[in-house]
Amino acid sequence: MQEKDIYILGVESSCDETSFSIVKNGKIEIATATSSQIDIHKEYGGVVPEIASRNHIKNITIVLDECLQKANMKMEDVDAIAITYGPGLIGSLLIGLEAAKTLSFIYNKPLIPVHHIAGHIYANSLVKPLQFPLLAIVVSGGHTELIKMTDHYNFKKLGGTLDDAIGECYDKVARVIDLPYPGGPKIDKLATSGEATYDLPVPLRNDDYNFSFSGLKSAVINLVHNEKQRNREINKEDLAASFQKVAVESIIIKVRKAIKNENLKHIIVAGGVAASSGLREAIYNLAKELNVDVSIPPIKYCTDNAAMIASAGYYAYKDGRIADLYLNSKSTDNLC
Ligand code: KG4
Ligand code: ZN
Repeated sequence: MQEKDIYILGVESSCDETSFSIVKNGKIEIATATSSQIDIHKEYGGVVPEIASRNHIKNITIVLDECLQKANMKMEDVDAIAITYGPGLIGSLLIGLEAAKTLSFIYNKPLIPVHHIAGHIYANSLVKPLQFPLLAIVVSGGHTELIKMTDHYNFKKLGGTLDDAIGECYDKVARVIDLPYPGGPKIDKLATSGEATYDLPVPLRNDDYNFSFSGLKSAVINLVHNEKQRNREINKEDLAASFQKVAVESIIIKVRKAIKNENLKHIIVAGGVAASSGLREAIYNLAKELNVDVSIPPIKYCTDNAAMIASAGYYAYKDGRIADLYLNSKSTDNLC
């Protein structure tokens, strides 16, 4: 007998995107609606938590309606509701969680708690089936981790950053050369027309799977200050290219080690920095060289969105991970 199709409504509000999505069987995106606050926070050079929460409140019912309309579905047609419970900005998380709990209560639908990073990982499932064992390279504004999965919803952390996240580092570097928030995409774009002429240190070449980005960040800040003091003009394109080369190399060194040691079938990339053209190219090249399957989600699934939460929610639901209405948001939480 053919299994019944499962439709999950995903809800994501952990930072500055309010997003709802309906995904069928964890793989097929039926419809997504997202309201981004980037233009609001740009003015402040970063996300202002209180402003983010207030805008989530303003947008949340509008975005839900838009998603249902796009999908041509009603709440009654949905099987369960998957919600990002953490990590993220606590005020922002709470708005999405309260909305999800209210919908769960009114429509009597199971509530599925999803870790934000599990969501980023499962963005890949919207593109191609996951093959185990796999390595998830998680690169976002708050995380830089290598996670091994031997099955669905089975996560083992191989290593992670000892200090700053890679996305945080992109954004900081952008800020010191006066690029607006969010800096990552701007650095990535500038890097394509620059040459890596500035000498920057490659962090952590040691034997484990950990990363460190604070030294690279400080090196860029010092370089910019020194050049300014000497009244020398910074070549922004070249600095962006130099920074991106080192940041990408730091990741590649450890991924290469993991592919060689961990008997992996599939490499996937997750999180906002997966949108970096430099990182994408380097990972595709490495996978080709070491003959391992690779997938990187299209840009729309790399940054925060509810489709990835609905996809992760499907596998969590199948795994029996259902929460009650006492579920709370967590600003910090480890995936594994
Ligand atoms: O996953 P995400 O949307 O939010 C978090 O969960 O953190 O990641 C946001 C991060 C930011 O640091 C942003 O600058 C970076 O992803 N980012 C990029 C690119 N697009 C977004 N970094 C490098 N190149 C890009 N094209
Ligand atoms: Zn994210």
